[in-house]
Amino acid sequence: MITKYTHGTPIDTEAVTQSFDARPIGEFPFDSRFDGGKFIFSFDMAPRDILYGLGEAPRGINKRGWVYESYCSDDPFHTETKQSLYAAHNFILLSGSRTFGIFVDFPARVRWDLGYTRQDAAEITLDGMDFDIYFIQAATPRDIVREFRAAIGQSYIPPLWAFGYQQSRWSYHNAEAVNNVIAGYDAAQIPLDCVYLDIDYMERFKDFTVDEQAFPDFSAFVREKQAQGIHLIPIIDAGVKKEDGYSVYEEGKAKGYFCKKADGADFEAGVWPGICSFPDFLNPAVRRWFGEKYKVLTDMGIDGFWNDMNEPALFYSADGIEKALEKAAALKGENLDLGKFFNLKDTFMGLSNAQADYSSIYHNIGGAQVNHQRVHNLYGASMTKAAGEYFEQAFGREKVLMFSRASYVGAHRAAGIWFGDNHSWWSHILLDLKMLPAANMCGFLYCGADLGGFNENATRDLVLRFLALGVFTPLMRNHSALGTRDQEAYRFENPEDFRDVIQVRYRLIPYLYSAFRKASEQNDMLFRPLSFDYPDDAVARECETQLMLSEECMIAPVYEQNVSGRAVYLPEDMTFVRLSGTRAEKQPLEKGWHYVPVALNEVPLFIKKGKSVPLCQPALRTRDLDGEHLEMLS
Ligand code: GLC
Repeated sequence: MITKYTHGTPIDTEAVTQSFDARPIGEFPFDSRFDGGKFIFSFDMAPRDILYGLGEAPRGINKRGWVYESYCSDDPFHTETKQSLYAAHNFILLSGSRTFGIFVDFPARVRWDLGYTRQDAAEITLDGMDFDIYFIQAATPRDIVREFRAAIGQSYIPPLWAFGYQQSRWSYHNAEAVNNVIAGYDAAQIPLDCVYLDIDYMERFKDFTVDEQAFPDFSAFVREKQAQGIHLIPIIDAGVKKEDGYSVYEEGKAKGYFCKKADGADFEAGVWPGICSFPDFLNPAVRRWFGEKYKVLTDMGIDGFWNDMNEPALFYSADGIEKALEKAAALKGENLDLGKFFNLKDTFMGLSNAQADYSSIYHNIGGAQVNHQRVHNLYGASMTKAAGEYFEQAFGREKVLMFSRASYVGAHRAAGIWFGDNHSWWSHILLDLKMLPAANMCGFLYCGADLGGFNENATRDLVLRFLALGVFTPLMRNHSALGTRDQEAYRFENPEDFRDVIQVRYRLIPYLYSAFRKASEQNDMLFRPLSFDYPDDAVARECETQLMLSEECMIAPVYEQNVSGRAVYLPEDMTFVRLSGTRAEKQPLEKGWHYVPVALNEVPLFIKKGKSVPLCQPALRTRDLDGEHLEMLS
């Protein structure tokens, strides 16, 4: 049962698609108060209660013991002391002494003190007075998620080939670099379906342009790759380069489609191309306009995109850099002592994603001028909906691959997400795992992290272990940053080990795809914490390193270096399967703790008693998979 409580005049976020009668906030069943323009509510937690949720966020599956903020942030250091990542997924679920879910439908900043100030209390602060809050009650955590998901609408389903293995890098600078990647994979006989085009495919980082020097006759190139079974996936950034004669900029400016400052002038800030304007995606007319721009690339045969920098990320605002440069100029020739030097340094360091800049942006919502801070968390989601709505109308459902960096609940109907700029750190294998069920709770089923890690240099064993988790994540993409060590599977010694791991993914695609479809159609989770399935099992309840996958399986990736296996807890008897290439070695294991050996070229999988998982033969592309002749693994 879902009860909606409303206060003031909430912004329509379009997160919830079912309609509910709204009750006044005075009837809200929690301690609550208004204080200084904010709404604050709280509840006590029993010592063993678990709090799930918040989707893409730092730290554990159990969110207790930290303070989080819903504020879409471009922050590439996903350490455990952070409060926000790129998304705002305002759903929490308490399980234990009581069972309930809460969705805070409010697109400004929300602070979630979940046992940080007082260990046994949660206090949630909304930075504003206009909001809807949904209180969700059902018998079990899974039922609560299903009720919530039914209320927010069916999750995006990508095309089948988007379940293939994908290779990205910032950047494959030209056609030759792309060809080399495909040739590298083909020579090593490692499956591959997609190659990504990061910002350098564009002409001077301008959205919807292609650098013709780097990619002469792009259209022919795209079709040639398609004939090889490879999809090219270009990036689209939120900022539109300010440049005379650039049609997207000129049109947007002429139509008044960019975000404004208080005085009505366009808000301008620097991103990759230098000064940009920012489409006002909160305005439906702008969404339609921007969505149709993707046609430039779909006309050339492109059928997949990733939307980036849409928190929005701001390196500096035009006003901010001006002031900083003036300050620096005034200091020229002076003795920069401790105070002066650090003040100057901080001035420049503080230019990026500055609160003052976000506060200076205005949107046009239904003719009213609305400050950006009130809708910050909707910006990236609205960009992605612009694209998703266009694709659905132009091509139908399930035809175009689309995922975004920033997101808010509601965008899950239009696209997937990736978890942004992680690091080549062992701890980030587990961070990826922990975000999966939380993202699923909020409807984001097509998701995953940059496998191998984005920032810094990866080691061969890290990439292999990361991939062995990625075998199960709907988005299985290896991506890495400019200047880091090459991370493509075929670049490392003994590439056959990578083939063994990635082939397992292809063998599992019929299973993973149908499990995914089912989760989308039934408003269910693909990945669940063990505690959802074994609520009375004390060990399962606290497990943060294993997940249930659909109805049949449990996954438990290796997440440490220099180990030949891991300890795993079985909440019931299961078959342990070591999958590698076309090999599947089975071993029945009893309920309880086990140390299981897992070689670097193996993918561990646990199948529940009485359940089976279909496997097909591997192929180099998803289009060549034979979904008819399946071998049942049980
Ligand atoms: C951002 C993205 C990253 C991309 C880079 C360059 O950092 O998160 O994936 O490679 O920008 O476009």
